[in-house]
Amino acid sequence: MTAPSPARIGIVTVSDRASRGEYEDRGGPAIHAYLAEVLTSPWEAVSRVIPDEQATIEATLIELCDHAGCSLVITTGGTGPARRDVTPEATEAVAEKLMPGFGELMRQVSLQKVPTAILSRQTAVIRGRTLIVNLPGQPKAIRECLDAVFPAIPYCLDLIEAAYLTTDESKIVAFRPKK
Ligand code: MTE
Repeated sequence: MTAPSPARIGIVTVSDRASRGEYEDRGGPAIHAYLAEVLTSPWEAVSRVIPDEQATIEATLIELCDHAGCSLVITTGGTGPARRDVTPEATEAVAEKLMPGFGELMRQVSLQKVPTAILSRQTAVIRGRTLIVNLPGQPKAIRECLDAVFPAIPYCLDLIEAAYLTTDESKIVAFRPKK
């Protein structure tokens, strides 16, 4: 029997300054480290660092979903109210289905940590066989948000016929309702 091919997971840092090399990207590596800690099934990252340009974000998401074969794409940054923050608009522009529960839960959990969590317009969508999830740009927000929504991500990927993910249950218990 051949081993299952690794799930591909897109990690997209959306930041004008990180994309220009003005500061080191800390969000993308934080997402990578979180996934390495939690996932027990084989996976590989497809990472991108791009500016806060809606057309570039849309093109990157389409490339990762339709051509790179990612089952999951996680973005960080560009979810706030500032003029250049357009990640949710780009995400919804490439969506086939909106998944508003992700944003609702992440904001609810984040509000226990920081009152400005209300400023994040982070969302999630389905495009084909890919789930796209937005996270805020703050590296510490990454664990706070992913701990909240990750239990539902493997079953979501089952339902869209994407990769089968398993987790280290001492970190995250993936909830799969019994049929
Ligand atoms: N959520 C969590 N969990 N932790 C945070 O520190 N920062 C907030 C919010 N959500 C934050 C958070 C702040 S200050 C902003 S402006 C918004 O996310 C949007 O951030 P972004 O534009 O970098 O995506």
